[in-house]
Amino acid sequence: MGQVKITVRKNGPLRVEDPDGLVELFDADGNKYDTVGKLAFSLCRCAASANRPFCDGSHNKIAFQAPDCVIKTV
Ligand code: FES
Repeated sequence: MGQVKITVRKNGPLRVEDPDGLVELFDADGNKYDTVGKLAFSLCRCAASANRPFCDGSHNKIAFQAPDCVIKTV
């Protein structure tokens, strides 16, 4: 089983990569999005996507500026 990797893209989405395509994604009501079998997808951080929670590239059109993320290690 491969390791899931989530990358915070600068001024862009959260990129989710799963070599096994097993990541499950649910909305606030517990409804499951069809992500099984997808090796990668991106989650919108800018709220401009017409396909939320997925990124559709709209962050580029609105010149989204994300706040800096500080990585804390444990
Ligand atoms: S982060 Fe890409 S559309 Fe919102």
